[in-house]
Parts: sequence; C-alpha cells; structure tokens
Amino acid sequence: MKSAQMRLRLEPDLHRKFIEKSRENGVPAAKLMRDFISTYVGEQTCALGIREKMTHQSVQSDKQQEIIRPIQYLGSKLRSISPIIEFAQKNLNPSSTVLDIFTGTSVVAQAFANIGMNVIASDVMGYSYHFSRSLLGSANGSHFRNPESFFAYIDSHLDFNLIQKAYGDWIKRERDAVNSSDAESLFKVSRDIPQIWRRLGQTPEQVYLFDNLSKLKGQKISTIPGIVSTHYAGTYFGIFQSQMLDTIRIETEKGYITGELSDWDYSASITALLFAASSASFTPGKHFAQYHQITDKKDLAFHKKRILLDRSVDISEKYKEMLERIWSRAAKNNPNHVPIKKSMEELCQDNSDLSSVDLVYADPPYTAQQYSRFYHVPEIISEYRVPNLQVFRGKITKGLYDNSRFNSRFSSKRSSPKAFEDLASLSRGIDSDLVISYSESAEHSTGNSRMIDLDSLKTICRKYFPVVRDERLEHSYRQFNSSNSAVVSRSDDEVLLVCERK
Ligand SMILES: C[S@@+](CC[C@H](N)C(=O)[O-])C[C@H]1O[C@@H](n2cnc3c(N)ncnc32)[C@H](O)[C@@H]1O
Repeated sequence: MKSAQMRLRLEPDLHRKFIEKSRENGVPAAKLMRDFISTYVGEQTCALGIREKMTHQSVQSDKQQEIIRPIQYLGSKLRSISPIIEFAQKNLNPSSTVLDIFTGTSVVAQAFANIGMNVIASDVMGYSYHFSRSLLGSANGSHFRNPESFFAYIDSHLDFNLIQKAYGDWIKRERDAVNSSDAESLFKVSRDIPQIWRRLGQTPEQVYLFDNLSKLKGQKISTIPGIVSTHYAGTYFGIFQSQMLDTIRIETEKGYITGELSDWDYSASITALLFAASSASFTPGKHFAQYHQITDKKDLAFHKKRILLDRSVDISEKYKEMLERIWSRAAKNNPNHVPIKKSMEELCQDNSDLSSVDLVYADPPYTAQQYSRFYHVPEIISEYRVPNLQVFRGKITKGLYDNSRFNSRFSSKRSSPKAFEDLASLSRGIDSDLVISYSESAEHSTGNSRMIDLDSLKTICRKYFPVVRDERLEHSYRQFNSSNSAVVSRSDDEVLLVCERK
C-alpha cells in the first residue's frame, strides 16, 4: 500500500480485510488509510500503541499491578509478556530469582515481580537502571508523602532564569507559532535557533551558556540547566520543552545531592522525565536515531501535523502523570528487587551479584541497530552529561550523536556468536536455566537482518546445556525499515529458546 509519504507492506490477510472494509463502507482505500492515520496522529498513538494498551490493560487486570512502559522502545516485549510469564509459572517455584539481563524498559522484569518472583534487572544503559530502580523499587523509599508533594517540591524549585535569558524570545516565537497552528514558523524557528553546534546568530547570553557548557564536555553537571536547550532545542524537542526538561532534570540532581530526594525519588524523577521526553520527541517512531528532517524538497504535510502535535506536548503534565503512575505501582512493590547497571560482559567478569539466580531471561538485540544510538538522548538526559558531539567527515552527525556510546557485540554479525557463548557460559556458571527471546525475520521482509540465526544459536546453547528446545509464539511485530521512515507491521515468529540444566 502506497501513499505520498509512506509505503506500508501489509500482510496478505490484513490487506484483504482492509480492502473488504473499504468496499463494505463504500470508502476508497486511500481515504480509509488517511482517516486511520489522522486518528493515529490525533490521539498521538499508533495502531501498535492501541494494541499495546490492550495488552497492557489485560496484564494489569490479571496481576492487579500496572506494567509501565516508561518510553517507546524498539523491541519492547510488552506484547509478548504473557507466554514468558506462563513459562516461568510452569517451570519455576513462585519465590524463584530471575535475572532479566537485558532489561531495557523493565516491562518483563515488572511482570516477573508481579507474580511474586525476586527480580534482578540489569542493562548497560543508564536510563534502564533508573527505570528498574523506580518501577521495581518501593515507594516506601521516598522522602515524600505522596506524588503530589513530590511534584510540588520539584515545581517550587524550578529556576528558569538562565534559559529565559538565552532563549526567552525564541520561546515566545515558538509559543505564538504553536498557538496559531503555524507549522511553517515552527520549522523556521527550528532551522534558525542558535545551538552549541550551530552558533550562527548567537547572542551574548547564548555565548555565555555555550562557552560554559563546552568547557564541561563529557562531564556530568549539576549547576547549569542547559544541556537539552543548547543541543536538542528545535530538533528533537521544542525550545520551551527543552527548558522544562533541563530545569526539572537539574532540580532532580540538586535535590539528590542535598539529600532531599532519596535514591528511589531520584530514579522516579528521571523515569518520569524520560517518559515526557519520549512523548514529545519529534522523531520517527519516538526513538532518537534522528529527528524529522525538514527539507525544502519534501512534501511536508505529515511533518506539519506532527510538529504541531509534538511541540504541544506539555512536559510538566507528562512528568506529573508518570510520577503518579510510578508511585501507584511502586507503592505495592516488595523492596527486594535489584537493579543493576552493567554490561553482560561486566557480569561475566564478576558474577558476585548473581548468586541464587534460578533463571536468566535474555532479550538481547538481534539487529545491527545499536540501542546506544537509538536512545542517546535519553542517556544524556538521564546522566545529565554534556555530550561530546560526534563529528563525521568534518560535520556534526545529523542525529547529534554523543561520541561515547556503548557498542553491543550482539549487534555485530562477527561478534554476536561469541557474545551468545558468553551468555550461555555465564548462565551455566551460576547454575541457572536460560530462556532467550528470539524474533525470526520473515522471509522477504524489509526488516533488518538478524546477526545470528536460530540454528546457530541452538548449537551454541547445546555446548552448555543438555536440554535445548524452542517454543514458538505467534504474534505480529513492529519494526522500522532501513530508511527509518516507515513503520512496518507484519507477522514474525517469536521464539522462546529454553535451555535447561537437567
Ligand atoms: C531488545 S532490548 C530489551 C528490551 C526489553 N526486554 C524490553 O521489553 O524493554 C535489548 C537491550 O539490551 C541492552 N544491551 C545490548 N547489549 C548489551 C550488553 N552487552 N550488556 C548489557 N545490555 C546490553 C540494550 O541496552 C537494550 O536495552
């Protein structure tokens, strides 16, 4: 199916049903698709989001504790949780300890916790650590009585002074454009606003901010609320949104340093802020591989709608909404779950955190897409570290990538087999079973090819485990095509590769 901006490959069955619907209602297929997309844009969600909401609700009603996906995440297992949990319930006793070793958004770890298991949730990314610490931790660890008093504390400390001086006029221009639904002016603001990497037209106040931040490249900071506003304003976020992200983030840091925020508060605040950032991001699929590029050559109808919607997202409201949800989930958590920020390789070097693990659940990357590239902005906000922007052929990269990003061996065809060897060896070494989630790429799909095929993976696992079998789960799977410009929905075989000690 084709429209001006986008090609969608529909499964034959879905395509047939789509055409039937269009005939049944006497509506041209293209109009039906347009209406569908405008509903999607209007609700700021997509077909997947709707399905995910349904799954999420059913998981919630089963377990009475909400599973929260803090950001839109490539390869999130939100929709395949049930079979994973059913497997655990069938094969483990209820008080077992599970290590979710590539926990990402922590949704699977939350589901294990919901059925009473003890969970260790680990990932190499810093944002993931905060997701796990807030969503698996206990709100009893908060220094506040309730989410309202937490929010009131942050809100009353926000200091807009510095950014207002540097960007006050730009914020006004942006607000006028949003209020009058003037997407062209928003594009212009986005193209012209001075940034640390594009200094043309900078004012003395901006020079002050740029120079001070440049001196701290690569360092975590707690005094200058300006990282987002000087690097990602007008691109990934609006200027006012960037100001809010900066000021909330810096107050979170200050509150933590002075002891007014507890460990749990600190992670809850960062998680809620990243939810807001993900909701506002002006990017395909809400990941951060690149922001929507505005060029004169393009038909910009889609981008106009998108920028008006994305720039209207209220960071403070989203932050508050997520704080409340996190609080309500964490109020019921047992306090024994353990978040870890480590690469699998670090855990292989030192497995002392992993005594008494009964099951390792592994959902590693299978494509060449590096999570650290797709989620570099959440990582920078989470660490509040001044990015050292990567330069390629003399130019700053289009995605404004940070130089110091983790490269996963699982995302390389050459290194992936050895990485899986290490995973199997680690699991066997701590005397645990291992369950690996694997998504097979459909034949002729436009998707990204897998770094390892299922048979090779099984061969590796058989070196370490006497019993290796697969369980197939049918469900549809979303991913981005190679140009990252279109969402492709199709049916992939999702496999659980079960490796048992006995
Ligand atoms: C497919 S995602 C996991 C998604 C997760 N199950 C969820 O539902 O949100 C893979 C995760 O592996 C992490 N990762 C990749 N290589 C890693 C490594 N060598 N050690 C630890 N984590 C790694 C990435 O940061 C990413 O969060």
